[in-house]
Amino acid sequence: MNKPHKTTHKDDAISIIKDDHDKVKALFGKFEKAENLREKKKIVAEAIMELKVHATIEEEIFYPAVRKHLEKDMMNEADEEHHVAKLLIAELEQMEGSEDHWGTKFTVLSENIRHHIKEEEGDMLPAARKLDIDFDAIGQALLARKEELKEKGIPVCAEEEMISSYGIADSPARMSKKKQASKMHEPA
Ligand SMILES: [Fe+2]
Repeated sequence: MNKPHKTTHKDDAISIIKDDHDKVKALFGKFEKAENLREKKKIVAEAIMELKVHATIEEEIFYPAVRKHLEKDMMNEADEEHHVAKLLIAELEQMEGSEDHWGTKFTVLSENIRHHIKEEEGDMLPAARKLDIDFDAIGQALLARKEELKEKGIPVCAEEEMISSYGIADSPARMSKKKQASKMHEPA
C-alpha cells in the first residue's frame, strides 16, 4: 500500500489548486454583487483568465500525475466538467457583455465550477493527498507552467475551435429554426 506523503507546504500542488479555487470563488461572489456592466465585464475577464490557466495546469500536469492512482469515474467526471466549462468559456469569449444570455451564461459557468470545486475538494484532492507522490515537485511544475501561460498565452482548445466554427448555441428557439433549415439526421 502507498505510504501517505504528508506535506503542509503552501506551494505543494494541492494547496496551489485550492488557492486557485478560492480565487475564482471570490470572483464569482464579486460578480453577484457587481452593480454595473463595466464592473461585471472586468470580473468575467479576470475569472476566465484564471479558469483557463487553472484548467490547463490541471489537465497538463496534475490530472495525469494522479489519474492512474484514483477512481476512473471520478477522473472522467472531472474531465467532463472541464469540457462543459470550456465550452461556456469559449462562448463568453466571443461575446461582448451586452447579449441577452451573457450574464446568465457566466452564472451557469460559476455554478458548474462551484460544483466541480466541491467534488475536487471533497473527493479527488483528499484521495490524492493519501498517495505517495511528491506534491512539492508537482507544485513547482504547476507554478512554472502558470507563469509561462500568463506570459506566452494559453493554447487554443478543442472547445474554442468548436465554438468558433459553429457559433454560439445558447438560444434553443433560434437553434431549432436553424436546425429545420439545415441537414437532417437519417431516421434510425
Ligand atoms: Fe479541475
